[in-house]
Amino acid sequence: MKTTASAPGKIILFGEHAVVYGEPAIAAPVHQVTATAVVEDADHAGILLRAPDLSRDIWLADAPADHPLAAAVHTFLRAARTPDSQLPSPSLTITITSTIPIASGLGSGAAITAALIRALAVHLDRPELATDAAVSRLTFEVERIHHGTPSGIDNTVVSYRRLVYFIRAGAPIKARTEQVLALFTPGRPLHLLIGDTGLHAPTRIPVGDVRRLWEADPGRMAPLFAACGEIAAAARTALEAGALEEVGRLMNANHACLQEMTVSSPELDRLVAAARSAGALGSKLSGGGRGGNMIALVRRDTAAAVSAALREAGAARVLETVVGDGD
Ligand code: PMV
Repeated sequence: MKTTASAPGKIILFGEHAVVYGEPAIAAPVHQVTATAVVEDADHAGILLRAPDLSRDIWLADAPADHPLAAAVHTFLRAARTPDSQLPSPSLTITITSTIPIASGLGSGAAITAALIRALAVHLDRPELATDAAVSRLTFEVERIHHGTPSGIDNTVVSYRRLVYFIRAGAPIKARTEQVLALFTPGRPLHLLIGDTGLHAPTRIPVGDVRRLWEADPGRMAPLFAACGEIAAAARTALEAGALEEVGRLMNANHACLQEMTVSSPELDRLVAAARSAGALGSKLSGGGRGGNMIALVRRDTAAAVSAALREAGAARVLETVVGDGD
């Protein structure tokens, strides 16, 4: 028997960084890039993990505990253990492939984990672990192993595969006991370009820097987080109303806020400015910042000009996606 599951890439539309401190954020799936997991029954004993893109095969039994694929499988098997069933030790081959660029804020790690967990849950007939909520919760556990203190927005959007409005639980400022999650559809489809600076940008560096700035000067940083939160809340209303010009203005305002938080970079600013000059309704960095990706909201008839302007301004790659068009 063979089971396949996949998970999309993602972008953060509004509220990155501030979401860590208890403010709302909005993220969207990017279905043009995906991670896929194939789980197959095997004749051999144990679990073989295959990642042909990386030409790397490893037996689960030999993998270090922090190996990303092994961590996902162990997290699933722990959750699948019930009081009257021992830890299952099935004979499987698991193959992972992904078209999501790595380390660029497109959620590649979370998507690989979510695809793997969903495929295992379906294959091993554990439907209660294959729900979007369960896949998201288990993916979050794995994200915590690799990223320390993620807000939880990445695992949420790649597991639910919809536009999400998200507020985390247990934030250092606006601590709440329950997270807020609203899945919603924009009033009009959003045509977005995703421009990659080509700079490798591990999220934990800007996240750590923002934390140090906040600890050193909360009076300066807390109002910036709150301003981003207000922008994200207003953006949800504008998105639901299909008020695209307002969404664009709010993207520009969010980028200014992120610049003040010190997480932009000259390369991101150059792409953001180029998109606006070429007719984008709005543009901002997306994700951790200092590199990685920016996004631009365009109209169908300006997409080609904005895309060309992004490449001319140094984008290593430009992806095009439409949010809310059938998802
Ligand atoms: O770099 P990304 O796209 O994984 O985004 C991280 C988003 C942050 O808000 C900066 C961190 C987080 O955990 O939410």
